[in-house]
Amino acid sequence: MSAIHASNSGVFKVGGDIEVNRLGFGAMRVTGRGVWGEPQDRAEALKTLKRLPELGVNFIDTADSYGPETSENLLCEALHPYKGLLIATKGGLVRNGPDIWVPVGRAEYLRQAVLLSLRRLKIERIDLWQLHRIDPKVPQAEQFGVIRDMQKEGLIRHVGLSEVSVAEIEAAQKFFAVATVQNRYNLIDRGSEAVLDFCAKQHIGFIPWYPLAAGALANPGSVLDAIAKKLNATPGQVALAWMLKRSPVMLPIPGTGKVKHLEDNVGAASLTLSDEDFRALDEAGRKVAQKAA
Ligand SMILES: NC(=O)c1ccc[n+]([C@@H]2O[C@H](COP(=O)([O-])OP(=O)(O)OC[C@H]3O[C@@H](n4cnc5c(N)ncnc54)[C@H](OP(=O)(O)O)[C@@H]3O)[C@@H](O)[C@H]2O)c1
Repeated sequence: MSAIHASNSGVFKVGGDIEVNRLGFGAMRVTGRGVWGEPQDRAEALKTLKRLPELGVNFIDTADSYGPETSENLLCEALHPYKGLLIATKGGLVRNGPDIWVPVGRAEYLRQAVLLSLRRLKIERIDLWQLHRIDPKVPQAEQFGVIRDMQKEGLIRHVGLSEVSVAEIEAAQKFFAVATVQNRYNLIDRGSEAVLDFCAKQHIGFIPWYPLAAGALANPGSVLDAIAKKLNATPGQVALAWMLKRSPVMLPIPGTGKVKHLEDNVGAASLTLSDEDFRALDEAGRKVAQKAA
């Protein structure tokens, strides 16, 4: 096995039955500026996606709204029929232009989102479909109810949620088993600690988005910078290794449209942090997070 291999991050069973290597990939960055349209370097983006299985990355996150459609279409072009890969997609956000995202949770729209993702990905069932946002303008029961129905019909295998509180997870659990939760979380963004602990207790996969953010913590002379130098690694790799050590349910999905960056990120799976380094990073990250709050 190559030294750069996602299996070095350990495994997690999504929904209790689909085993994946914990270090995954976010396919939001294989699109244009503002997550809008085609990527600037389409050939490089395709190469990056094709490299994923070679590096043992078998958990891939996307959404119908990335592009929109672009990310799912590229994944299909690069990786269909996805042998041994779990493609997790999302629906529930519409796009009104670059960097603009609007939740739409009406039942008929969510059903269309799932049907169109199935068509673009050229599959008959989505292994993990995530509600990208709960729409505050639509009753939760309408949104969760149609998801439960689509799962019963076999269009969706497992269900995930995104940007939710513990109370919202519990509300959804009255309709279906919640397999994963995808919230923004990284060394310096710790607003979801309670959600993460809840997920760990219930064996729900926790997918931290924006995992590479380290802000000022990555500046020369910082704790992160010093530990990275000591381990002959980059600050980004150390940030990912910290997350993998933080919880066994943690499934980071760093995203890139570049092969070299993908290889760097998967390299983090082989990095072992000592307990002492883990604690020092934890403390430094919390301090930055508190200052920002
Ligand atoms: N649920 C949600 O609401 C939500 C929201 C946002 C994102 N997500 C998901 O989470 C995934 C990750 O989030 P994210 O893309 O915002 O954050 P991220 O993975 O932490 O950071 C991605 C950014 O870092 C750069 N990058 C990646 N690897 C690098 C490396 N080794 N060296 C230098 N730069 C590197 C990328 O640019 P290059 O392309 O130039 O490498 C990109 O600009 C997304 O792909 C998406 O699947 C979910």
